[in-house]
Amino acid sequence: MEAGFELGFASLSNEVRDRSLPVEGTLPDWLDGALVRNGPATFEAGGERVHHWFDGLAMLHRFAFDGRGDTVSYTNRSLRSETYRRAMATGEISGQFATGGGYLRRVRQLLFGDPTDNCNVHVARVDGTLVAMTEVPRYVACDPDTLETRGEFAFADALTGHVNCAHVLPDPHRGETVGLLTTFGRPSEHTFYRLPDGSRSRERIGSVATESPAYLHSFALTERFVVLTEHPFVTTPASFLLPGRESFVDHYEWKPERGTRFHVLDRETGERVATAVTDPWFVFHHVNAFEADGELVVDLVAYPNADVVDGLYLSEASDWFEHGSDGHLRRFRVQIDGQAVASETLYGGCELPRIAREDRTREYRYVYTQGAAEPDGNHVAKVDVTTGESDRWEESGLFAEEPVFVRAPDAERPSDEGCVLVTALNTDEGRTDLLVLDGETLDERARAPLPHAVPFGFHGRYFEEW
Ligand code: CO
Repeated sequence: MEAGFELGFASLSNEVRDRSLPVEGTLPDWLDGALVRNGPATFEAGGERVHHWFDGLAMLHRFAFDGRGDTVSYTNRSLRSETYRRAMATGEISGQFATGGGYLRRVRQLLFGDPTDNCNVHVARVDGTLVAMTEVPRYVACDPDTLETRGEFAFADALTGHVNCAHVLPDPHRGETVGLLTTFGRPSEHTFYRLPDGSRSRERIGSVATESPAYLHSFALTERFVVLTEHPFVTTPASFLLPGRESFVDHYEWKPERGTRFHVLDRETGERVATAVTDPWFVFHHVNAFEADGELVVDLVAYPNADVVDGLYLSEASDWFEHGSDGHLRRFRVQIDGQAVASETLYGGCELPRIAREDRTREYRYVYTQGAAEPDGNHVAKVDVTTGESDRWEESGLFAEEPVFVRAPDAERPSDEGCVLVTALNTDEGRTDLLVLDGETLDERARAPLPHAVPFGFHGRYFEEW
């Protein structure tokens, strides 16, 4: 294997616990929580390699800061899911997004009974428990300090679905988290729920019924509304019952003639207050949304079509790095009482956008995002969505992952005072570095090399406690 970005798709089995990382530079002395990240780390079992980036077996990483600016302590651990244990025992990784029948079998089994648990997409805190999540509704609980797998996590309610939106949105202004489940049927339903802080009991908000459910990776939330962005990458549930298509994503088709629709639901009543259709595009990640002057402003990273899903097959990864990403940060304005939609592009070539937690659902100013990959590295961008101005950090040979902004404790919204925590694959050194960038300038404040290279991961959260 070459020492380039391919290292980001090489399996990692090494695990460490409470390793004090060497720190170059100065850590903020107010940083006293922990960043917990999730992502695929084992790409083969029994000599067989998975086909798609999304199909690697989950590993969690924890970076804990001491609140004095002295040390950062690192722990990483593969999720001991049933899928992981079966893969280690039998040499087969089954039940995945785009590799063989696993994920598909899981959806089939879900239609009649039992899904897989390789929760490699995101993490959340539910009723004081650290929970790993993926795109089917099985959840794995982990110890927030040691990252040891505690077993299956169960909600204390009867809500069900066949597909789980791994992005849930904690709303610090309302003391609840909003999430989304898709249930296949006639019709199928995309159902939003709320989960009050400290509870394990989800409450249904409302649903959007459809004959052709879309693949939904995230959604948008404002103070009063929840917004389902229905792009035309859709399936029909009956397709899952037919033979001939090998993987989960094979069952979804791009149907641009449908356009992309914003469905706006009242967070209190669940009533749909608007549906607006715009040109067709594909979205994984919403950035933020808020209400302003009778409009909903919805910021997201849009692609011209769903080709990006195929582009993330491991066999296609080199193309992806050579051609960059066609994900663009776009702002859509949707009339709350009408169908009009307007849009503008705020930044080109980016993914994995983040904002300050306190900015969610509110008018805000700054987005931090991963810049598109190129063969010798990528960049971290900071975009001022009020002016369109941007700054960037980059270093040749480094591939930055999702940049997580943590606002300084005394700073007020929408300030950029704080720091950006971002892991980056350092291909020259054959390892991953944790970088702490200045939230205002993106200047590097500190760097802590890890004892190994971490495969490219997905998402993380910064928890003030744990
Ligand atoms: Co995501």
